[in-house]
Amino acid sequence: MKTVIFRADDPQTPKKAAEIIRSGGLVAIPTETVYGLGANAMDEAAVAKIFEAKGRPQDNPLIIHISCAAELERYCHDIPDSAYLLAERFWPGPLTMVLPVRDCIPKRTTAGLDTVAVRCPKTAVTRALIAEAGVPIAAPSANLSGKPSTTTAAHVLHDYGTDGRIDAIINGGACEVGVESTIVDLTGARPRLLRPGGVTPEELRALLGDLEIDKAVLEQISNDTVVRAPGMKYRHYAPGAEVYIVTGSSEAAAAYVRKRFTDGDAVLCFEEELPLFDGCNPTAYGKSSDVRTLSAGLFAALRALDRPEIKTIYARCPEGGGVAYAVGNRLKKAAAFRCVDAEAEL
Ligand code: TXA
Ligand code: MG
Repeated sequence: MKTVIFRADDPQTPKKAAEIIRSGGLVAIPTETVYGLGANAMDEAAVAKIFEAKGRPQDNPLIIHISCAAELERYCHDIPDSAYLLAERFWPGPLTMVLPVRDCIPKRTTAGLDTVAVRCPKTAVTRALIAEAGVPIAAPSANLSGKPSTTTAAHVLHDYGTDGRIDAIINGGACEVGVESTIVDLTGARPRLLRPGGVTPEELRALLGDLEIDKAVLEQISNDTVVRAPGMKYRHYAPGAEVYIVTGSSEAAAAYVRKRFTDGDAVLCFEEELPLFDGCNPTAYGKSSDVRTLSAGLFAALRALDRPEIKTIYARCPEGGGVAYAVGNRLKKAAAFRCVDAEAEL
């Protein structure tokens, strides 16, 4: 069986893809963050196929995608006012909320938790698909487990091929945000950031008045630790090579890398730095002067560097809050939080 590729701008696509979802199949869906691997969230057998196709650990729950905030009550209960405030301000968009789950959502979708992560994505074709299917769509990032996320249909094809491991892909072009959604847990005494993304901590604080940052955002969590977002403990987003973040000025970082550079090394840097890393196998992922280009380009660059001959990657990482906070989090996770200070080590 072949994998069908749908065009996002074909008016028939939502209907055709919805038929596949309703009959228990897998459809890779474009969203403004990353491509997801979608199935009917209410259908245990369909959800099981997601875990199997991705090679995803069973203890890692899925985000359910809905077509509008009005659907929240069907799947969640005891919804705090803050959830409605957030939905009003940021949906459709790159924000996921963790809320108490109703029994109608199978345990396989939530990995047995009493909460569920919910998001309303911005991409029109995907929202039309959800509405047409009439069910929430469970979708993790479409990458094979442990690999960098997929931000184009070509990335999805690369991971799954066309021989029917997944039933369809909707080609919606490159994802605008490029890193996965911000996840905020609203089930505790204080709202808690489980994963930074396109909706920034500053924006959340401004609206909620308070925000705790989960430990898994800040440091490497060992595999046997219980964490709020189970997926955050895995070494994620990573190419096969060992990644090191090199901090300090562009000049200091270039001098640091030049001193150590050998065959099998590569550099992941800002566009402005390309001349400085000349001869050190540099790949740029965006402009440091425009952090949105960094988030949009990060996973494509990590994928391009995921080659057996590359053993070590020296990476340059934006600092500070806003979207840079999310880019920094993904890069640090790819590096298992290994950072070297070029200024101190020269
Ligand atoms: O942008 C996104 O969120 C993309 C697109 C496709 O929507 N999806 C995505 O899914 O990134 P995934 O499965 O790659 O990451 C979901 C994260 C995982 O770390 C998972 O452990 C966490 O969300 N998660 C899911 N349900 C949860 C829950 N009930 N409580 C806490 N964390 C949860
Ligand atoms: Mg993922």
